[in-house]
Parts: sequence; C-alpha cells; structure tokens
Amino acid sequence: MELITEKLNNIFLKAFRDAGYDEQDIKVGECAIEKFGDFSCQSPLFLAKKYHKAPLIIANDVLSHLPQNEIIKDATVASPGYINFFVDDKYLAKYLQEYLFDVDKARKATGKKMLIDYGGANCAKPLHVGHLRSADIGESIKRIRKYIGDECIADVHLGDWGLQMGMVIYAVWEKHPDLVYFDQEYTGEYPTQPPFSMEELKVMYPDISKRSKEDENLHEKVQQITYELQQGRRGYVALWRHIINVSKKLIKQDYDKLNAHFDLWLGESDSKVYQDEVIDYVIKNGYSRKSDGATIVDISLPEDKATIPPFMLLNSAGSALYSTTELATIVQREREHNVDEIMYVVDNRQELHFVQAFRCVKKINILKKDIVLQFVGFGTMNGPDGKPYKTRDGKAMGLDELMGMVKSKALEKVRESRPDYSQHEIENISDVVALSALKFADLSVLRTKDLMFDVDKFCSFEGKTGPYILYTITRANSILAKVEKPSGDFCLLDEDRKLALCLIKFTDSIKQAYEKSAPSYLCDYAYNLANEFNTFYGKSSIIYETNETKKYSKIMLTNYTKNMLKKCMELLAINTLEKM
Ligand code: ARG
Repeated sequence: MELITEKLNNIFLKAFRDAGYDEQDIKVGECAIEKFGDFSCQSPLFLAKKYHKAPLIIANDVLSHLPQNEIIKDATVASPGYINFFVDDKYLAKYLQEYLFDVDKARKATGKKMLIDYGGANCAKPLHVGHLRSADIGESIKRIRKYIGDECIADVHLGDWGLQMGMVIYAVWEKHPDLVYFDQEYTGEYPTQPPFSMEELKVMYPDISKRSKEDENLHEKVQQITYELQQGRRGYVALWRHIINVSKKLIKQDYDKLNAHFDLWLGESDSKVYQDEVIDYVIKNGYSRKSDGATIVDISLPEDKATIPPFMLLNSAGSALYSTTELATIVQREREHNVDEIMYVVDNRQELHFVQAFRCVKKINILKKDIVLQFVGFGTMNGPDGKPYKTRDGKAMGLDELMGMVKSKALEKVRESRPDYSQHEIENISDVVALSALKFADLSVLRTKDLMFDVDKFCSFEGKTGPYILYTITRANSILAKVEKPSGDFCLLDEDRKLALCLIKFTDSIKQAYEKSAPSYLCDYAYNLANEFNTFYGKSSIIYETNETKKYSKIMLTNYTKNMLKKCMELLAINTLEKM
C-alpha cells in the first residue's frame, strides 16, 4: 500500500519535473498553519539558489504544472515560496479506511541487519536509574526498527569483567573461606550449585563496595583477586560463573519488569575469545605504541577541536580494559552476526569512550566490511538539584527504589479516582499506571536531553504523560463497549477532519522516530492523537447519535484511535489497560 505522503511526494516530483526542475528530493510535509492547508511543499525554497529564481516564481511554476489527481484540493502559493494545500475530503475518507485497516501492510523489509547494544547492567550490582534510560530507549528503538523492517539483534552487553566481580569473590571468601574455590591445591570438579542465594548476592556488592572505599588494604585485595580472575585462576573462574548465573537471573527479572527483552545475554567477558587475536593484530601491525608502560593507539585527527586521548589497548599492568573488550566485541559481532550496523544506546557521558573505540576500529582497519557504528547517547535522569538522581546517602538511585516511589504515587492517584474499586483492582491498575508513568516520562524527552525526576508530573492523568494515554485508551474502550457492533458507510464530517488527519500522520512520526533514533517523536504523536481524540469526544455525542452514518463513522474513528494509541504504546514497550 502506498502511503499518502509517498503519493503526494510523487505528485509533486512530477510537477517539479514538468515545470523544468529535474530534482530527486522533493518532499511534502505538514502545513505549519492550519487554516492555510493540511500539507505544504517547501522545496521551492531550497531550489532558488540552484536555478537563480525567486522561490515564489518556482512555486507558481510548479503549481501550474500539478498533474490531475484525486488528493490535492485548493492548492495555493504562499510567501516566501510554499505550496500549501488541503486533502480532498472524499479521498481522505477513502484513504483513512484503507489505511487504518492496512497500516501495517505498508511495511516491507529493508534488508538491513543491525545489532543494538542497550541495557548494559553490571553483574552483581543492582540496576540504577542510568540503566533504566538505556533499557527504555533501547527497547523502543529496537521495536521501531523492527516495525520499519530492519532485522535487529538485541544484546544486553553485561558488565561482567570488572572490579565488582573481584569484590563479590572477596565477600564470599570472607563468609566461607573453607570453600574449595579458594583452595589453590584443589584439582577436582567444582560444585554445580552456587554457594549463595539470589538474596545473599543482592547485599554482597553494596556492602563490600562501601567498605573497600574506606579501606585501602581491602581495596588492594579486591584488585588482586580481580587480576587473578582475569588471569584464569580456576577456583575464581568457577565462582565467577556462579555469580554471573545468579546475577543474570536477577537482572532478567528487572528487565522483564521494564518490558526490555534481549536476544543475546552476552557480556564483556564473552569477547575474550577474540581479545588476544585483536591485541596481537594491533601490536603486530604497528598501530600501537608504548606510553608509560601502557599500550595505546593514537587516534587524534588534525581537524579535532578538542584533544581526543589515545585508545587504551592494555594498561601498564598488561591487563585488558573496558576499551579492549569494546574493540574485541565489535570484531565478535561482525564475525558471529555479520551485521551492517551496531548501535550503542548508552549514557552521553560515555561518548568519548565510543568515539575512541570507533576511531580505533577505523584506523586499524580490522573489519571486513564497512559497518555503521552509531553512538546513540542519552541525558541523565536528574534530581531536583539538577544532578543525576541520587539517594539521600549520595548513591545512584536504585531502580527498585525509583519504581517504589512511582508505584506509591500511582496507588494514591488510582485510589483517589476509583474509591469504589477493590484493593486487588487498584493494585493491578496502579502497576500498569506506574510503569507507563515512568517509561513515558523517560521516553518523551528528546533522548539527548536530561530530564528531571518528578513523580507528581509523571503520574498525572493530564498532560504529556503515560497515564493520560492509558486513560484515553480506556475512554475509547468504554465508548466502544457501550455501542452495538456498528455497520454502515463511513463518511468524514468536517468536525472530525482534524482527528482523521492526525490518525494518518502516524507513518510520518514513526519514520522520524526511526531516522533520528528518538522514540520521543512517537510520544509526541501519541499525545497529539490523544488530545485530538479527547476534543472529538467532547464535541460529539457518539452513543446518542441518531444519524446512523454519522454514528458509524464516529465509532470507527474511535476504534481507529484506540488501535493507533495501542500501537504507539506497544512500540514504546508500555503496557496498556482495557479498563480503569
Ligand atoms: N556496563 C556499562 C555501564 O554500566 C554499559 C555498557 C554499554 N555498552 C557497551 N558496549 N559499552 O556503564
């Protein structure tokens, strides 16, 4: 099915050609001022220079060459060189029906294969507010990519190779120094069951991390354990495997709660199989040099405005670092998955790390094909002080705590507005409302920007919030539940044009969200659609409408809106409710 914007682009392309402007890139977009048109073509503005003609002249030329068509009505030229027009009502009504029954059929595979790296939780450590944004934004980008037709592989890329692993091993040793894992003489098999429970693991890291900050001696021991682990000490590796397994289960529970689902549960350590090869390759081919004992690759470029520090291949102790695993992982992803693109949905503060890694990949020419490496950064979720949200004792806010705050606010609001509901119903509704509040707030801010944690605002049933969208869906649902299954002819009433136009703009919004890797465009769209629907609802008496055609048409619009809002929420990975 050809979308209306595609059809319009083609009509204009022909008009430009027939008028003597042989161009490829002619586009039609939304008209900024409603009373002047539904759509507008602004291309004359961009061609003026090339053709040495005033945009108004070009616009008039094009207007007089518009081919015969059933869509465009009342086209006019406006200063400084726009062509504004309305969509013919009959066409709009026809298209709307065709399109809304069929919107998903407009999709086709792009043939592009990408891997999206998001989540990025660290084993043995609880998830914090920073991981929330990565999970929310990454999951939605993945769904948008798939919807448009890309093949996507989602990899959680766990932090499983750092100092935190040494800390937990130390904590286990402190409690049970007699376990075989610590006996260097031991050569037998290690137990298959972990020597700690999920609950025990949860408290180990925060405790030992706090203590090792205060105790230099302890810190050194932890470093030593981490080093020995990375060198492959048998007992430590066996214990480390238990930590990873138990930790993955915990992390998976958290991501499930957030509706974030991954195809691959790999971690930094999984790139180890490629690490030695990559390190050898870089050194042997003369791409690196020694500096203060460390092995580095210079990656700065003459055009750099700020200095870009070298890429660290090995530190002075000869150990691999976060940068090393990054490089090896890129190679792994090319070899094992043959992707065309790798996208990283990670906090803006790690941008330099990725600039370094991407430059290094290019410089050392290690990939067989030109893979697009894309950093998709996001801002932080801040507290009232404008700094990344912290707990009262200064630690990064844990996800559990954050969700707890949103949940209690949601409970309060639902209880207030639904005093007659049972406790059980209130609980269930609040769970969905709370998650929609947190996720929608997170997703509706332009990705690169910071946002402020404001539980009252997030949970409000008014404004650009998740609960407002949920509420609008249930409102549409309750109308649909009260009417009999309708039949009749669809006609588009003047008063309903705005809602109809908004409905068909979905494809433009999702395209923008796709191109800019920014789910916020879909949030804007869902919010606009919910507003249009609520205005439509306020003006119409759908249930008591006596004219059958009108009634049928309004019911259909209600149904289309409900489905479209649900589709948006699905693409944002936010659950909805049928009733609330
Ligand atoms: N584990 C990292 C962190 O918590 C994020 C990982 C992001 N992905 C990557 N390929 N480096 O900061």
